[in-house]
Amino acid sequence: MPRPSHRFQSLPPYPLAHVPLKKRQLVERGVDVIDLGAGDADLPAPAAAVEALGRAVQVPAMHRYGFGLGYMPYREAIGAWMQRRFGLSFDPVTEVLPLIGSKEGIAHLALAYLEKGDVAIVPEPGYVVYAGGTLLGEATPYPYALRPRTDFLVDLDEIPEDVLRRTKVLYLNYPNNPTAAIAPRDYLARVVRRCREHDILLVYDNAYSELAYDGYVPPSIFEIDGARDVAIEFHSLSKTYNMTGWRQGWAVGNPALIGALGRVKTFVDTGSFMALQAAGAAALESWAEFVPGNVAVFQARRDAAVAAFRDAGFACESPKGAMYLWIPLPDGVASREFADRLMDEEGVIVLPGASFGAGGEGFFRVSFIVPPERMAEAARRAGRVLASMLVSA
Ligand SMILES: Cc1ncc(COP(=O)(O)O)c(C=O)c1O
Repeated sequence: MPRPSHRFQSLPPYPLAHVPLKKRQLVERGVDVIDLGAGDADLPAPAAAVEALGRAVQVPAMHRYGFGLGYMPYREAIGAWMQRRFGLSFDPVTEVLPLIGSKEGIAHLALAYLEKGDVAIVPEPGYVVYAGGTLLGEATPYPYALRPRTDFLVDLDEIPEDVLRRTKVLYLNYPNNPTAAIAPRDYLARVVRRCREHDILLVYDNAYSELAYDGYVPPSIFEIDGARDVAIEFHSLSKTYNMTGWRQGWAVGNPALIGALGRVKTFVDTGSFMALQAAGAAALESWAEFVPGNVAVFQARRDAAVAAFRDAGFACESPKGAMYLWIPLPDGVASREFADRLMDEEGVIVLPGASFGAGGEGFFRVSFIVPPERMAEAARRAGRVLASMLVSA
């Protein structure tokens, strides 16, 4: 048998790979399963996108390779969206890059910027692709624990100077998965300044830029002075438009960064189906008709989830962004044991904090991906499991 590379062997098993099988077994046993695990809502994609896909798929030219620029109107729609949403202009040819989902782009970027000896600062808990890309790039992840102490922000002043000197990439994501934290502008300005001082590439993952509540409007990193020199920003249609399965995202940044990522991609893919890019353009153009109403649905779910989990005995904050509650567990209640028991005994799927890295221990994540009454039922069941764990502790 050929031996896999060291690079491959450095990849940990995908966290929670066992959950889909376990869920199937529960459903087969007739258990009323409530799945609050994935960040993957049960809501429909915009009608404009579905209709545009139906039209585009009838056009033979759409079925060909999207060599080079792909479907140019998608790039133009991205440029127009960035302008409307953040007041920022990006050249659709040199400063915009369509992706097969933002995850793909974040992973591939590492191949252009990281190598052996480099360090990448990886927030923990955090989205799995930051550590994954770093390891595929044969660099060393420097985990930084996101805890309430720093409002779940990465404080670069806490990172030893010798680590910062070797740091090539900093991954940041606000509104954050899984903590639902948001980043104040003055914090982002400090980070951009430090990245410029240390020549660190700031990979700003803005996948949740449109899921924000109570009037909060998340910024683009490029609203911060100087960011264009050091940052690349990732966006996604997945959460904003309930289009997780469509695999449509994009990166924006200066031509050198976008060109480097584009060059890696020319050697590994040939872009997504152009009919999907046409549908992506339609989704972007439907922002005003679609996004505010969709966000209102998420906000109602958030409110229901917060109320229900508090009633059930959990101390949870009401988040201003993303689609998650990041709920603390009492001391001594291990997140994996809690999540396993909740799934086995009550048929409710949540993600244990420890599955997002050691820094996530002591919490669990709930996604607002089911209607309010189901959230409430899930919270009651979670309360029962917590109570029984506290009694037996
Ligand atoms: C923080 C974060 N970034 C990126 C993504 C990936 O999005 P996409 O579907 O565009 O690959 C996710 C998906 O869960 C996420 O939580």
